[in-house]
Amino acid sequence: MPRLAPEAIGKPLLEIEDLSINFGGVKALDGFSFDIRCGEIHALIGPNGAGKSTVLNCICGYYHPARGEILLMGEPLIGQRTDQIARLGVARIFQRIELFRRMSVLENIMVGRHRFIRSGILSSGLFWGRGYREESLNQQKAEEVIEFLNLQHVRKNPVGSLPYGLQKRVEIGRALVAEPRLLLLDEPVAGMNIEEKEDVARYLLDIKDEIGLAIILVEHEMDVVMDISDCVTAMNFGCKVTSGLPDEVRTNPEVIRSYLGS
Ligand SMILES: Nc1ncnc2c1ncn2[C@@H]1O[C@H](COP(=O)(O)OP(=O)(O)O)[C@@H](O)[C@H]1O
Ligand SMILES: [Mg+2]
Repeated sequence: MPRLAPEAIGKPLLEIEDLSINFGGVKALDGFSFDIRCGEIHALIGPNGAGKSTVLNCICGYYHPARGEILLMGEPLIGQRTDQIARLGVARIFQRIELFRRMSVLENIMVGRHRFIRSGILSSGLFWGRGYREESLNQQKAEEVIEFLNLQHVRKNPVGSLPYGLQKRVEIGRALVAEPRLLLLDEPVAGMNIEEKEDVARYLLDIKDEIGLAIILVEHEMDVVMDISDCVTAMNFGCKVTSGLPDEVRTNPEVIRSYLGS
């Protein structure tokens, strides 16, 4: 897998300033600020309805905040379309599995390359010239991801036949093949057994360490959060409660009161 330039690691990647959004009478986000550096795993925790998924939806352009700013390496994301934001290097993985069940692992991962396919249907269909070159590059990238995530043994299998943990890994692969710089994950280990959880945690660390990607991890599973995060931000009622090292956040009285203790 191609690695991010080492000099980028630790530089500010995404900055969120004073973000607010309402749904009817509900203030889903109320002046929320947050930032993440290149090569960092930053967890977002908080009770149900705190606004965690809304933050991810604002970053990738599904929601349009009423106020505030989101900058990716200095470039404003608010007002850009979801496909433009994806092209800038933001990849989102949803809570629900969203794969093509009858298609193979390889085919599903290839779908993640579609933003790079520029040739027309005709030239790709003829398997000639540019279409052919792009197709083989896409295939090569997909194979790299399959190897990175140890999916070789199931690469031809239909995704629908795989256990949940492996399906999640395929989804991570589909996001990786687009070569993003920021990965957004919404509760990736929800509903998994211990072995599957450890598996996801290990691959997220590999993605950080070996590719140098930054990851925003929305997660309820505190063991996973505390194990792999560089930084944790706790939210409640659309606001930040506190932000810091996992141990600092875990022992923060307000976090314990609003979330961990309940
Ligand atoms: N599309 C939407 N329409 C209406 N209300 C929404 C929508 N998205 C989020 N909300 C509301 O915003 C609040 C925050 O939701 P959400 O970000 O999903 O919380 P979390 O992910 O932390 O559980 C909740 O009160 C939720 O009902
Ligand atoms: Mg949510």
